[in-house]
Amino acid sequence: MAQGMAGDGSSSQASSGVVRSLARHHQAVLGFLLGFFVTVMLYTTVSGLFRSTNSIVVMQSRPGEHTEQSALTAAPLVSSTPNSSTQVHDIENGQKHEVTKTMEKERIEEKNLVDGTDMNNKTGNVQVHSKLKEELIRQELDQDDDGNNGNNVTRGAARKPICDLSDPRYDICEISGDARAIGANRTVLYVPPPDERGPDGQEWAIRDQSRKDLGYIDKVNVKTLSTAESLGAPECTSRHTVPAVVFAMNGLTSNPWHDFSDVLIPLFITTRAYDGEIQFLITDLRSWFVDKYRLILTNLSRYDIVDFNKDANVRCYPHIIVGLRSHADLGIDPARTPQNYTMVDFRMYIRDVFSLPPEGQGIPYEEANKKKGNGGIDDSMEKQRPRLMLISRAENRKFVNLPEISAAVEAAGFEVLVMEPLRDMRLEEFSRVVDSCDVLMGAHGAALTSFFFLRTNAVVLQVVPWGLEREAMSYFGVHAKDMMLLDIEYTITVEESTLYEKYGKDHVAVSDLELLRKQGWQLLRQYLWEEQDIRLNVTRFSPTLHQLLRTLSEWRR
Ligand SMILES: *[C@@H]1O[C@H](CO)[C@@H](O)[C@H](O)[C@H]1NC(C)=O
Ligand SMILES: *[C@@H]1O[C@H](CO)[C@@H](O)[C@H](O)[C@H]1NC(C)=O
Ligand SMILES: *[C@@H]1O[C@H](CO)[C@@H](O)[C@H](O)[C@H]1NC(C)=O
Ligand SMILES: *[C@@H]1O[C@H](CO)[C@@H](O)[C@H](O)[C@H]1NC(C)=O
Ligand SMILES: *[C@@H]1O[C@H](CO)[C@@H](O)[C@H](O)[C@H]1NC(C)=O
Ligand SMILES: *[C@@H]1O[C@H](CO)[C@@H](O)[C@H](O)[C@H]1NC(C)=O
Ligand SMILES: *[C@@H]1O[C@H](CO)[C@@H](O)[C@H](O)[C@H]1NC(C)=O
Repeated sequence: MAQGMAGDGSSSQASSGVVRSLARHHQAVLGFLLGFFVTVMLYTTVSGLFRSTNSIVVMQSRPGEHTEQSALTAAPLVSSTPNSSTQVHDIENGQKHEVTKTMEKERIEEKNLVDGTDMNNKTGNVQVHSKLKEELIRQELDQDDDGNNGNNVTRGAARKPICDLSDPRYDICEISGDARAIGANRTVLYVPPPDERGPDGQEWAIRDQSRKDLGYIDKVNVKTLSTAESLGAPECTSRHTVPAVVFAMNGLTSNPWHDFSDVLIPLFITTRAYDGEIQFLITDLRSWFVDKYRLILTNLSRYDIVDFNKDANVRCYPHIIVGLRSHADLGIDPARTPQNYTMVDFRMYIRDVFSLPPEGQGIPYEEANKKKGNGGIDDSMEKQRPRLMLISRAENRKFVNLPEISAAVEAAGFEVLVMEPLRDMRLEEFSRVVDSCDVLMGAHGAALTSFFFLRTNAVVLQVVPWGLEREAMSYFGVHAKDMMLLDIEYTITVEESTLYEKYGKDHVAVSDLELLRKQGWQLLRQYLWEEQDIRLNVTRFSPTLHQLLRTLSEWRR
């Protein structure tokens, strides 16, 4: 993503010709590869579950439940080059491909993956683009101001262009005044007051999510009406007093990393300040998404969600936002929100919304032992051991010796819960299970996105597959730190990668990653993301566990 951010800021009018069939093909392929990810695994009991100190291994896959969305399971990260070709970089399998094409000929930049450019290298981005960024901050603050100060309708509309295409990540349009939303043709109209009308209207078409070049998202038309058009503007069939935001729920969603990075965090950035006083007009609504994230969505908007594609109304609002702002992959830049939201704020917010214990509590086992200690006689009771959730992956990057790992974790002094998070699981319960854990451990992969449910000072223990150190840091490591979680990476040796046993020590994927990188991303993807599994050397891993245990007990003091 360094590339997306490192764009020259050219407000590339996004790209035209979306190569749909191509995109669909990719979706299908990726969906197949990642289908496992969308299945749900429900942890049997929530209460009473924690008494057991045995490791519980639950493996369950319900591929039959895949719905249409499973074709969209792909977890790509998308970066746009200045020439607005788009690369989809799949967090689950490293896949990278073009999803949109511009009129210009362009080449696919592979630099991101090949030299491992850190897509979240904020320092670099900020340095390189400080001017551009200042400008964006200024604009955003400006716009947010309008929204937050109670729909001062006359102000703003005339002075500012309605659509801002300048951000390298997203496009956004904001209308204050007589704004009319017509779901039937994905159109939002601005009817200017009579003294501001002109002989010509103005028109935009933008993708209403947080990745402006993501071809999977259809565009929404935004139009300022001319004098003549204003007179013939479609009549309002409903009038609303609160603002509305139009955004898409399709795209790369269904992988939790993308659910948060592409929709939920951008939605938080764009709408949290309205404190629920805003209505969602959702294009390409996904009912599983609405169900899964109901608590978050109903908190950000207290109004009914409108399935915009199916809406036959002409809805009139005093203020409409089309699109979602986004600052970074899975990130928030506090300087770009008037409220200075941080990733810690976001984690706290998520915890609040899921009714998890408020801040000020220690990590779970610490709290449990405090309570036990208070009773005096309780000293005889067995101390609660730190609880570690071990995430099991079903397809690639799986732990082939999971029972051995689980036993080693337990032998080191932890209580182990083995979980395979699936797409349709109930987050209400799952969030409580994660909250009850002191450590979240898993191989690099989207399931680590559950870290939003952890308590302050809880630990993310990421097992880094062979060759994926940079991705591990930039997709999760930096964010864990940003959220006041303890971030630990256990980077495997090549002997712990199944690539070693499969291909032997002389194979390029084992012996020479530099050379492998030079051979292009298809091979990198194939070996490092797709074929690689992990046989954790528990002897080598043990010191990490013991160090972790010491760190946790030092915090208790
Ligand atoms: C954009 O495309 C033009 C023409 O193909 C090329 O010369 C230029 O280097 C590209 N810019 C970037 C930043 O890739
Ligand atoms: C981030 O970018 C800066 C400037 O381009 C560079 O000096 C630094 O090494 C990069 N850091 C990482 C972690 O890639
Ligand atoms: C709207 O903004 C104008 C100019 O800033 C101000 O004079 C006016 O009082 C505001 N109206 C409302 C209803 O806030
Ligand atoms: C969408 O429909 C409305 C009402 O029928 C019409 O006024 C408007 O021009 C249409 N917009 C586009 C882009 O077709
Ligand atoms: C959203 O959650 C916040 C924090 O938990 C709470 O203060 C607020 O009242 C909630 N808003 C709605 C609309 O439920
Ligand atoms: C946000 O940060 C800026 C600069 O650090 C500060 O001036 C401002 O008061 C902060 N705003 C809030 C709401 O905390
Ligand atoms: C596992 O790790 C230990 C300690 O680093 C090492 O001595 C041993 O050779 C490793 N085992 C295998 C099978 O690689």
